[in-house]
Order: sequence, then C-alpha cells, then structure tokens
Amino acid sequence: MTTNVAVSEHSRKFQKPQGFTIWMTGLPGSGKSTLAGILKQRFEEDYGRFVEILDGDEIRKGLSRDLGLSREHREEHARRVSYLAKVLSRNGVISIVALISPYKVSRESARELIGKDRFLEVYIKASLATCEKRDPKGLYAKARKGEINNMTGIQDPYEPPESPDIIIETELGTPGESAEILIAKLKDLNYAL
Ligand SMILES: Nc1ncnc2c1ncn2[C@@H]1O[C@H](COP(=O)(O)OP(=O)(O)OP(=O)(O)O)[C@@H](O)[C@H]1O
Ligand SMILES: [Mg+2]
Repeated sequence: MTTNVAVSEHSRKFQKPQGFTIWMTGLPGSGKSTLAGILKQRFEEDYGRFVEILDGDEIRKGLSRDLGLSREHREEHARRVSYLAKVLSRNGVISIVALISPYKVSRESARELIGKDRFLEVYIKASLATCEKRDPKGLYAKARKGEINNMTGIQDPYEPPESPDIIIETELGTPGESAEILIAKLKDLNYAL
C-alpha cells in the first residue's frame, strides 16, 4: 500500500522531457554521422538528456539487413527508421537520425509519422565536390571506378530539401562549430534541451 502511494507520487512529479527527432539528411560524406556523435555527447553531458543515434549504416546491419539500395528499399529503410524515431521521441528521447534519405517523399512521410511538433529536417549541406574529396569511406572512388553502381550523388539521385527546418553548411566550419550552430538553431526554434 505504502509502495503504491510512493509510486504514484513519483509519477506525478516526474516530468518527461520533450523528446524530438533531429532528422539529418545529406550526401554521403556531408557530415551526418560526425555531427550526430558530437551532438549526442553534448546533449548527454551538458543537458542530461537521453539520446539515441539512428545511423543508417548501423541499422542496415540489423533491422534493415534485408534491404538493398534500390529506390524502393531506400524508402523502406527510411520508413523503418521513422518508426524507431517516433517511438523514441514520444518517450522523451532525442533521436538523432543520420540517414542519407535521398527522397523527399520519405522525409515528408517521416515528418507526418513522427509529428510536425517533434520533427526537424536538418539539411547537412556540402557540395558533391567537397564530399567526394572527403570520401571518408572510399565509396566515391569506388563509384568513379565503376566498382559500385548505386552511389548517391554519382549514379543515384539526391533530392535536396526545399524548405528544411535547419541548414548546416559543413564546408564553413569545423564539426564542433557546426554542432554549436545546430544547438543554437534548436533553441531559436524553441526546442527545450
Ligand atoms: N563541419 C563539419 N561537420 C561534419 N563533418 C565535417 C565537417 N567538416 C569536415 N567534416 C568531415 O567530413 C567527413 C564527414 O563524414 P561522415 O561519415 O560524418 O559523413 P556522413 O554524412 O555520415 O556520410 P555517410 O552518408 O556516407 O554515412 C568527416 O571526415 C568529417 O571529419
Ligand atoms: Mg554516416
């Protein structure tokens, strides 16, 4: 009896923090995973928040391991990631999605599913030339040699966001500086950290 009273007292006092989804879209090598890592650390250490990174590459090793790189499969991959982001962010978690998500329709569906008030489309912007020069995974080189044939930006399309909530130009500063700009913009948009 006493325990039940204690539990209900607790649940009354416990305020779930505002969860939301930072959906980072951009070309391969634009900086999504790099920024996701920095942001996670900042949100956890400086703001005491629970954070989950939903990185396209990692999810392809598990939940999406049956999927390839056709348009249909890329859309299905984004749909699965949207569901994960939805259930996490409605429970107070900050979900950081790092996913090329080349198709506008997938990103629009994600916004619909997750909810407009807890979804931010963040365009991680860098020119193809810069991404190709960075080539952190060596995939652009492989695509140019014809060793892979579905590289976004080379053989496969990338539809840039038309009106993203936030644009981060990763050619204009270090990863740390880009992360600070993103956090400042979140605050401008009244997201409570
Ligand atoms: N301002 C910046 N923000 C993020 N990354 C930057 C920035 N400036 C330079 N970089 C570099 O760009 C590269 C981005 O690689 P990263 O793996 O984060 O890209 P990605 O968008 O996750 O690519 P992919 O879609 O292939 O997973 C890294 O080597 C990073 O150090
Ligand atoms: Mg990445």
